[in-house]
Formats: sequence, C-alpha cells, structure tokens
Amino acid sequence: MTIKKAVIPAAGLGTRFLPVTKSMPKEMLPIIDVPVIHYVVSEALASGIEDIIIITGRGKRAIEDYFDDAPELEMHLGRTGKDEYLRMVQEISAMADLHYIRQKEPLGLGHAVLQAEKHISGEPFAVLLGDDIIKNDTPCTRQLIDIHARTGCSVIAVEDVPPDMVSNYGIIDGLPVEPSLCRLADIVEKPSIEDAPSTMGAIGRYVFNPEIFDCLKQIPKGVGGELQLTDAIRDLKNSQDVYAYSFRGRRYDTGSALGYLEAIIDFGLEKDDLHDGLMDYLKKVVSR
Ligand code: G1P
Repeated sequence: MTIKKAVIPAAGLGTRFLPVTKSMPKEMLPIIDVPVIHYVVSEALASGIEDIIIITGRGKRAIEDYFDDAPELEMHLGRTGKDEYLRMVQEISAMADLHYIRQKEPLGLGHAVLQAEKHISGEPFAVLLGDDIIKNDTPCTRQLIDIHARTGCSVIAVEDVPPDMVSNYGIIDGLPVEPSLCRLADIVEKPSIEDAPSTMGAIGRYVFNPEIFDCLKQIPKGVGGELQLTDAIRDLKNSQDVYAYSFRGRRYDTGSALGYLEAIIDFGLEKDDLHDGLMDYLKKVVSR
C-alpha cells in the first residue's frame, strides 16, 4: 500500500531553545530565511506524501499562519510589483494539504502521535520530527517508504551517534539482515551510555503500520514522565517485525544549537549571493 499520510509532531515546548521559544515555535526557527518546518514538509512531499497532519499545541499558531494564505501580504506584494516574493509566498500556501490537530497537554511524543489516529484511519503512515533536516537526493522518508513497500514492516531511520550523545536518543539493538538494514531486537529511550545497547540512535523519521496506535494506547509513562514513542515501538516489535535502517543523507539536528549553526552555514554556502562573503568570513574566523 502506498503511503500518502504523514504526521509531523510540533507540539514540543522547545525548552532547549529558550528564551526565543517562549514566544515562537522552535519549528519556526529560520535557516537564514526559511523555517525548519518548511524543510520537513518539503521532505514529506518529495517522498510522495499528500496529506500531512501537524500536531500543534499552545503557542504554535505561527506554524498555521506560515502555511496559510496571506491575502493582505499578497495584495501588497502584487500592488508594489514584488512578483518574486509574491510567487514565493503563494507557493508556500499551495504546498500541501495540511491539517492541524492540537495536543492539549504536553504529555510526550507518543501521546502527540496518538492524536493523529482518527485522521490516519488504519493506514500505514510516516512520522517526521520537526527538529531534523536531512539532505539527500532520495529523501530519507522516501527511503523508509521504499523499505516498507518491500517488507510490509514498520521501519525507523537510525544513525551512529557519538557515545556522549546516546542519552538524547532512542537507541536500538538490531540484528543485521542486509547492508544498512537491521531487524529491531530492542529500543531504549535516552539510556545512559552504560545501559545503551549500541550507539545507533533513532533520528526522527519513521514509517509505521497502524498497529502502533494500539501500542501507544497501552504504554505507561516512560522517561521524563512522558508517553514515549520509543516504548510503543518496543511493544510493536513483539507482535510484528520492525526494521531499523541506516539512511543515506546528511542530517542536521537543528534542535541542538550546534546542529542549527551547522545548517545555517551549509545552507548559506549553497546560496549564490552569500557563498563568497560567508566563505571569506569563515576563513577570517579560522585564522583568528
Ligand atoms: C525524540 C525521541 C527519540 C529520538 C529523538 C530524535 O526525542 O523521543 O527517541 O531519538 O527524538 O531526535 P526528543 O529529541 O524529542 O527528546
């Protein structure tokens, strides 16, 4: 079955980016002039997704406004002959069929995904977390959809993470079945390095069979007192195979300050109007 629906949880409080996230969703942090969530929605669309459910919460209105029509702004741009900007703004609101569901309380990522159950209506679906931008010719979500098409199994994208970072991730234990693909033997949310089964971390791209919702309804509160998606995946693999895939691509963890800066620099270097000036500046910084 082709996967046409995706869930983008964007209800998190963004505590790692306080104070700016006090009045601005972390998903709207700009990589120069484009918010992170724009890249995440673009990845979903480039992967063949047609219907996107964004899970929002308190203080997330800016996300809805960003993807909505902006009649006054459009009229102004049209009147003042700023056609290039007008096109840009119109393209954004025409990007996708977006739906919003509000998570009333921040009860965790697992709870956020569960809010989408009714809209998903029993189909396999993708989940893209709003913190990561992943660059690759074949989008990461598409890579997972292709594995799901081949195996019929849920699949999560993983990457080798530095040992001192394992306590930030869902960490897997896997049995290799082919190059880059493992059958999931276990997954632990944010373990200490001593308890981590490996250094392969779930990076925020998933394709699930709909049975994940049954698991999400049964899990108790986990790490941080929250309902954890990782704990539901752990249950799911007891009743059906789940795969972990070492995806192809470059990931920017824009949920961390360093990853965010790396994304800004790399994306800046790709812009013709910024490349030379930025390069000169970086050389100066290195020779300081
Ligand atoms: C979430 C998940 C975690 C995953 C991570 C990827 O954690 O709970 O399993 O590895 O995203 O970014 P968070 O970053 O929301 O704390």
